[in-house]
Amino acid sequence: MAQKLRVAIAGTGFGEQYAIGMQSNPDVEIVGVFSRRLERAAAMAQKFGIPVSTRNFEDLLKIPYLDAVAVVTPNSTHAEFVHEAIRARKHVICDKPLAMNGAEAADLYRLAEAAGVRHVTFVPYRFSPASIAMKTAASSGQIGRVVSVTASWGVDMRDEPLRWRFQRKLAGAGVVADLGAHVVDLMTWWVGPIRRVLGRCKTLVPIRPGEVGGRRRKADVPDECWTLLEFAGAGIGSAKFSWNARRNQVIEIEGDRGQLIYESPSLLQWLQGRGEFTPSARLALAPESARVTDLPIEAKEFGRPEEALNRMFRDIAAYLRGEEKPDCVATFQEGAQTLHVVDAIETSNRTGKWVELPSSP
Ligand SMILES: NC(=O)c1ccc[n+]([C@@H]2O[C@H](COP(=O)([O-])OP(=O)(O)OC[C@H]3O[C@@H](n4cnc5c(N)ncnc54)[C@H](OP(=O)(O)O)[C@@H]3O)[C@@H](O)[C@H]2O)c1
Repeated sequence: MAQKLRVAIAGTGFGEQYAIGMQSNPDVEIVGVFSRRLERAAAMAQKFGIPVSTRNFEDLLKIPYLDAVAVVTPNSTHAEFVHEAIRARKHVICDKPLAMNGAEAADLYRLAEAAGVRHVTFVPYRFSPASIAMKTAASSGQIGRVVSVTASWGVDMRDEPLRWRFQRKLAGAGVVADLGAHVVDLMTWWVGPIRRVLGRCKTLVPIRPGEVGGRRRKADVPDECWTLLEFAGAGIGSAKFSWNARRNQVIEIEGDRGQLIYESPSLLQWLQGRGEFTPSARLALAPESARVTDLPIEAKEFGRPEEALNRMFRDIAAYLRGEEKPDCVATFQEGAQTLHVVDAIETSNRTGKWVELPSSP
């Protein structure tokens, strides 16, 4: 592709981070922005010099020479918007979780493949230097045969009002799909697919003040999840996701010759100007597993949030422009695989039984 990649962004919440990441890329031009309220689309258009702002998603697809659409709206809208973009033969970036469930996500994957458009599920932790160091170390075989993988992560949302995230019809599986989409993606990117799960989910904060007016209403999604995981080639594992406590993202891979330990503060908070981002990846090799060494981390493009966003969207844009897919870029296939795991956790929570995963999306 000789010219710039012309991209339209749907969504002005986290969608603004996309604009920050793309605006300084000489190979990308942001040509349109959608928000449900026109004033929000117009404000973002003005801030980033975007020529078209609209409250009708279809208007984005009419922009001449549009190449790609980024869908960064609530989860329940992803499938419809992605469908429309694919029908119009546009490449698509869709934020995680790709859809409301695995079947819907797998459908989007098949449609995108059949239409010959390129498709990306945006999972930003993959681009973190510590995450890349984990991927390299896990693939090198230095810790030997993987016997277990454990993860935990918490974001404190106890005092949040009843935004769309806490409503099943808008968000899907609550914390399982929200935090789980990141952690399941990292675990499977590093050590391979999950074969079956046993899950327990709870809603510890069932009543929240309404977003407008403050009238208290019911949250009908889980805000706490514990799960046992069996990997196809990496032994047994566990994961815990919580919206009720602030905890770093921690993932440990235990091999028969050593251990890899990853720890990361919230990337989102740092991107939005709150807190530090100092992730780590460490290696402990047997028999001296008490001696832990830091893995080398290539952090030069993660000094400031704008640099990090630019790094992420440079890889994504290059792929959409026709280059080979960088390893950090996840497709709809991986987005669908993750959602099958989310579904299986919820099914297991209902039935009390282990649930097998489909072998392909
Ligand atoms: N990858 C990550 O780390 C990360 C981080 C945050 C969010 N996300 C994902 O990004 C997506 C958006 O989340 P967000 O936090 O940006 O949400 P948000 O702040 O609520 O913004 C959502 C955007 O979608 C629009 N919108 C709201 N309801 C809509 C509806 N029913 N139909 C069409 N448009 C609607 C909003 O328009 P108005 O405001 O004008 O009504 C706004 O432009 C979600 O899928 C979320 O999981 C990912």
